[in-house]
Amino acid sequence: MAKSKKVTVIGTGNFGSTVSFILAMNGACHNVALMGRNYDVAKGKALDMSQAVNAGRQHTIVKAAKGPACLSDSDVVVITAGAPRGPGMSRDDLLMQNSEIVRKYAQDIKKYAPEAVVVVVSNPLDAMTYVVLKETGFPRERVLGMAGILDSARMAHFIYEKLQYGAGQIRATVMGGHGDTMVPLAKFTTVAGVPIEDLLDSEEIGEIVKKTRNGGAEIVNLLRNGSAYYAPAKSTAVMVEAMLNDTKQIHSCAVMLDGEYGGYKNIVSGVPVMIGAGGAEKIIEMTLKPLQIERFAKSVASVQEMVEKLEKIDFFTDNK
Ligand code: LAC
Repeated sequence: MAKSKKVTVIGTGNFGSTVSFILAMNGACHNVALMGRNYDVAKGKALDMSQAVNAGRQHTIVKAAKGPACLSDSDVVVITAGAPRGPGMSRDDLLMQNSEIVRKYAQDIKKYAPEAVVVVVSNPLDAMTYVVLKETGFPRERVLGMAGILDSARMAHFIYEKLQYGAGQIRATVMGGHGDTMVPLAKFTTVAGVPIEDLLDSEEIGEIVKKTRNGGAEIVNLLRNGSAYYAPAKSTAVMVEAMLNDTKQIHSCAVMLDGEYGGYKNIVSGVPVMIGAGGAEKIIEMTLKPLQIERFAKSVASVQEMVEKLEKIDFFTDNK
């Protein structure tokens, strides 16, 4: 009999709960474990979801994880733990605070789920993915950050908003870090195969690119208390399901670069990857135009800056 599939979601806030709920309701795996700082909250949410699973005539078993040992047997671990942004904050403002939280969970994963694929969604996303790579020592295939799917979905939404047609047929592409320097690629964006450059003028496309970069902040400012979670959670579930079903789909994800895109090494950024049971099984290199190369370089540099801030405080010393 095939081994049953298990996903552990760390963090029981809005984001973690919504990812767990989507996975449970889709019947994507046999077991979903919710792990958070407060066991009772994790237990309450697991109970609530277990009952929803029955209402939906699904079979997923949803449980609360009592301690780090519950990570064992996870095929995929999703890290959502950490503080979200508040109004007026950049994702990068969370660097110091969330690095400590994410490091602790990375160490638990290394110990109890040494074979798992890890999906990181805590912010600042690319730097947190780097922290998990360093702290687990996992091969780069098994540590991916979720951002490109979300940023591409936001771009697709803004294109629809402008066009008022093509919903569900818009394929947008966003590369680079999940921050203010992300790189929406209008040239690789189509509606049912039609380049958006044939549907919108450059001013309209410029406006969509701007809105995409500001997509997360717009929601933070409206909510006033926390950040977006429906689109981020759905985007995460898309990645996890591609792993569980070994679909080999291509999505833009944050991964450690090792010579790709002109020689970047030892730095995390968002690029198209093929996702399968092994995680980021292949990194796809697209031919970029000079302006795109320049923007990508700027985005990588902003992630490098954050990693250097951590190096300055000897954050990684223990693991050397
Ligand atoms: C956002 C957060 C999840 O972009 O980074 O909404």
